[in-house]
Amino acid sequence: MTMNRRILLAKRPVGLATRDDFSADEQAIPELQDGEALLKTLYIGIDPTIRTWLSTAKSYLPPVRIGEVVRSAGVGRVVDSKSDRFKAGDLVTHLVGWQEYSMLHDDSFATVFPGSMNPRHTLGVLGSTGVAAYAGLVYVGRPREGETVVVSAAAGATGSVAGQLAKIKGCRAVGIAGSDEKCRHVIENLGFDACINYKDDGFREALKEACPKRVDIYFDNVGGWILNEVLGRLNTGARIALCGAISVYNAEKKPPGPSNYLNLITVRGRMEGFNGMDHWGKHSEISAELARYMEDGRLKNYETVVDGLDEAWRSVNMLFTGENLGKLLVKVAES
Ligand SMILES: NC(=O)c1ccc[n+]([C@@H]2O[C@H](COP(=O)([O-])OP(=O)(O)OC[C@H]3O[C@@H](n4cnc5c(N)ncnc54)[C@H](OP(=O)(O)O)[C@@H]3O)[C@@H](O)[C@H]2O)c1
Repeated sequence: MTMNRRILLAKRPVGLATRDDFSADEQAIPELQDGEALLKTLYIGIDPTIRTWLSTAKSYLPPVRIGEVVRSAGVGRVVDSKSDRFKAGDLVTHLVGWQEYSMLHDDSFATVFPGSMNPRHTLGVLGSTGVAAYAGLVYVGRPREGETVVVSAAAGATGSVAGQLAKIKGCRAVGIAGSDEKCRHVIENLGFDACINYKDDGFREALKEACPKRVDIYFDNVGGWILNEVLGRLNTGARIALCGAISVYNAEKKPPGPSNYLNLITVRGRMEGFNGMDHWGKHSEISAELARYMEDGRLKNYETVVDGLDEAWRSVNMLFTGENLGKLLVKVAES
């Protein structure tokens, strides 16, 4: 009998997660019914949205309930199937959760990828991360050649793709990141024109220097005071693509609103939230374009891989302490 190790939410974290917030169990996998397939998890994606699902905050999906398997995206290999849609050997992404096996049903919201593909790419650059970066920059930001694009969390999964895409579209790309080392990476390896360490003093001056023609597009991953500062440096007709606000996901109280928002009126600007999942219908098209950029060397992919399902809770904290470079993944089994 195959057993399934699962990580469950024991209590809601306050601030950073602790081991005590989670528990683990093992369950026998039930026999497959018609229309079902069994997926063996290879990698889980550690996305900031997991932290909001662990709280009671309003999100696009309901909070994970106490005692439930922690929800997360992941990729796995089909190991057994009584489904017409999923065949043994298929590489499939869906909300696998923090567990070694998950069940697919014929009507699951899941995507089958070519079996030969790098499974990590199906969650990162050629999966939901790539689609979010593309949708935010291209559909919401609508970049034009010569414009200045600022990207926060620029060394992270989404930001690194968004900034490189801005360069590919002929823009000046300015990153914001949390250390000098990350800023060096953003410029030297990812090809941004400039990068500001937001932990240094003098952010406003540094932003002015890096964006002499002001900011046409801000791809915002962090919210908070950085959003407010960029709002104060917009160009006429600026667009802000609200991707996320990681600076507030751990906060117990909602932060005050950005006081510089009135500048949107002055510059006739637009600030728009988006969810990459709303653009999943275009996934094949977007990932084919991103794959071409990877092939011709214009799009570099970086990942941070942590080993073992039991390390998943610690990995979530790495997003908040900035310990990841590129897409953060937990390896659950050999592919
Ligand atoms: N709308 C969508 O469809 C969609 C899809 C995917 C992700 N997102 C959002 O996009 C954002 C990035 O997600 P990701 O998966 O790509 O994560 P990520 O950027 O790979 O990792 C998060 C990064 O955020 C930075 N950070 C953490 N706390 C911060 C703070 N207080 N102020 C400034 N920066 C901080 C850290 O880098 P530093 O070392 O530079 O601080 C960290 O590496 C998140 O807000 C997420 O919710 C949205």
